[in-house]
Amino acid sequence: MLNIALPKGRLGDKVYSLLAKIGYDCSEIYADNRKLIFESVENSVRYLLVKPSDVAIYISHGAADIGIVGKDILEEDSFDLFELLDLNLGKCNMCVAAPVDFVEDLDRPLRVATKFTNIAKNYYLSLNREIEIIKLNGSIELAPLLGLSDVIVDIVETGTTLKENNLKVYEKIMPISARLIANKSSYKFKTAEIEELLAKLEKELKNND
Ligand code: PRP
Repeated sequence: MLNIALPKGRLGDKVYSLLAKIGYDCSEIYADNRKLIFESVENSVRYLLVKPSDVAIYISHGAADIGIVGKDILEEDSFDLFELLDLNLGKCNMCVAAPVDFVEDLDRPLRVATKFTNIAKNYYLSLNREIEIIKLNGSIELAPLLGLSDVIVDIVETGTTLKENNLKVYEKIMPISARLIANKSSYKFKTAEIEELLAKLEKELKNND
């Protein structure tokens, strides 16, 4: 039995439909209940419904064999796991965003609000720019509107959240997309099952090119 950690939420919906296309139906996830584990006996897989930011933790600890996670999570923290495939979905950008009328004062440290503190620190280190980090856990866009920060480092997908809050992309840091990841010993001991799923995903992605 292959244990697959799937992200809940926005990325989840895209992932479930990709899996359904390659014959790994996980539509039971949409059942009106609070179950977090689903089994597909015909495919010998068990789906685990996990918060997107926790998928890599389950995989690196071996609580799940494979999983699907955003590249942002893999960039923010280092995990001991294999990154097997770029699924080319959930595409967005990690960006610096600021109020539309923002003018940077280079004579003082830049105040940066974000939940991606390591990505932000590494980015500004590469620019040799001194910053002060304000760690938030959500609704990051509020920070510059209330003067809590000068800019934010966050994910921009459609750009709607920025637009509706009078913010704009100031700099692009990196592109983000969903990745298939595997626990290292699972990959060794369940090679055939993982390679079978990987091959089907690769074929499906190629057909969509
Ligand atoms: C993410 C991100 C932005 C928004 C960007 O937030 O933090 O707020 O999506 O998407 P858009 O460009 O399509 O508007 P999420 O919905 O994950 O919630 P969060 O505020 O808890 O981070």
